[in-house]
Amino acid sequence: MTVKPISLVLALSLGVSAAFAVGKTEGTKAFTDGKCTMCHTANVAGLTKENPPKGGDLPTSLAGKSLDFVKNVTLKKQDVNGKPHPVAYAGADLETLAAWLVQITGENLLTKNKCTMCHSVNAIGLTKDKAMGGDLSKVGASQKADWIEGFVAKKINKGDKAHKGNYSGTPEELKALAAYLATLK
Ligand code: HEC
Ligand code: HEC
Repeated sequence: MTVKPISLVLALSLGVSAAFAVGKTEGTKAFTDGKCTMCHTANVAGLTKENPPKGGDLPTSLAGKSLDFVKNVTLKKQDVNGKPHPVAYAGADLETLAAWLVQITGENLLTKNKCTMCHSVNAIGLTKDKAMGGDLSKVGASQKADWIEGFVAKKINKGDKAHKGNYSGTPEELKALAAYLATLK
């Protein structure tokens, strides 16, 4: 995992509000400092919880949820399933924590759906297995979520070519995956 403070500074100074890459060390620290591991796992990042069964695996349940949703729940400004979140975040770095949660939710979707067989996402430290597909780190700069969704589902061609990968997950998951990829610019 590479942390890129320069691109982070650049992204912030350019006023880019899209997700920026949070390093694993930094993200893990924000998660454990916030005591999220008391009740939640982050399996894709190898983080277990101390207190089963309370909360779920955040990178799984957060598929398709927005950065604002994550922040508002964590600050108790928004309910989850009709109930306020049991604790309000008292740490100093909610931006990093929330951005990292969105990022590892994307990572979870990409690895679970085997996109990383053929695609790297270097911006978030994901490497690929085969030589086939390209790096998806900036795919959102040229493609919109709807297009990505349609292309991966093989409903839209690129030029005269259909996508090479076979998608076998749910439509909801594909929507979440496409929405995440569209934020990568
Ligand atoms: C005392 C236990 C507890 C702690 C500590 C805790 N949570 Fe939760 N959290 C829950 C429960 C219970 C739920 C609701 C059920 C679920 O989604 O797992 C929840 C739900 C959530 C949700 C909504 C999940 C969804 O898919 O809709 C988010 C986001 C969340 N927590 C973030 C955090 C973050 C970030 C931290 C650390 C700052 C944290 N939580 C700490 C118990 C906890
Ligand atoms: C068997 C290999 C393979 C798998 C698996 C695969 N892809 Fe691809 N994908 C390709 C190839 C080859 C291309 C065309 C070359 C390129 O643009 O990288 C492509 C192109 C794309 C593009 C268009 C990129 C652009 O800039 O226009 C997107 C988006 C994409 N893939 C997303 C996914 C997602 C999401 C998954 C997982 C659900 C996935 N791919 C799985 C091989 C694969």
